[in-house]
Amino acid sequence: MNSEQHHYEQWDLKHQDADVTYLLKYLCEMYPGKIVFSTSFNIEDQVITHFIANNQFPIDIFTLDTGRLFQETYNIWSETEKKYGIKIMPFFPESTDVEKMIMKQGINGFYESIENRKECCYVRKIKPLIRALKDKKIWITGLRAEHSEYRQSMNMFEWDDKYQIIKFNPLIHWTQQDVMEFIKKNNVPYNSLVDKGYWSIGCAPCTRAIKKGEPYRAGRWWWENNDEGKKECGLHLK
Ligand code: ADX
Ligand code: SF4
Repeated sequence: MNSEQHHYEQWDLKHQDADVTYLLKYLCEMYPGKIVFSTSFNIEDQVITHFIANNQFPIDIFTLDTGRLFQETYNIWSETEKKYGIKIMPFFPESTDVEKMIMKQGINGFYESIENRKECCYVRKIKPLIRALKDKKIWITGLRAEHSEYRQSMNMFEWDDKYQIIKFNPLIHWTQQDVMEFIKKNNVPYNSLVDKGYWSIGCAPCTRAIKKGEPYRAGRWWWENNDEGKKECGLHLK
């Protein structure tokens, strides 16, 4: 176990009841310049952006712009920058990777097989993510336990073996109600698709709204009805 892994286990026990502002401040002091936050402009991400921006914490915020996002996502991106006076760094896929992939599998090839879909997620999200996390020590995410069975076993601090980084999931134990109450109380801007039933928003061709009672992530890669795809793009697999 390296020293980074050792740290995160202690933090989990020590800070279980600490609030988000305290933890962000603590991490900024411990790892100046080495902390990044990835936002996909979902409700959880908007809450975290609010904490970072309002406290002016020196944490770089980035998004993976796959080139296939909803117009509503671009709108909330722009609105968030204006409201908080911040800049959110886009990470794009390599143009030659996308060109080759489209020639091979077609412009909507992800609907045809899980293999194609995973290749698309790799080219458009994973490779840019590797670039975004390079030389960083802490990766902040908006993951919540309620999202899925898999995420229920996650902790606030996790060692991410795939990306060799400490992942900090400050809202892991927040409920959907906690998040929405915070948003309303603090006038946090959020994606207009949420009010149309889009609780988990990814790329436009791969996301649909969910109906009442459906699992949180049922609208992601909805055509993959088996377990094989696991409704994950590889960003957050252990
Ligand atoms: S995903 O793995 O299915 O795409 P999900 O949409 O639930 O993830 O989002 C969980 C967290 O992953 C977000 O809070 C955010 O930190 C990160 N994330 C997901 N998609 C992106 C993206 N396009 N850009 C930046 N971060 C993202
Ligand atoms: Fe490609 Fe869909 Fe994955 Fe977006 S979510 S990267 S469009 S397969």
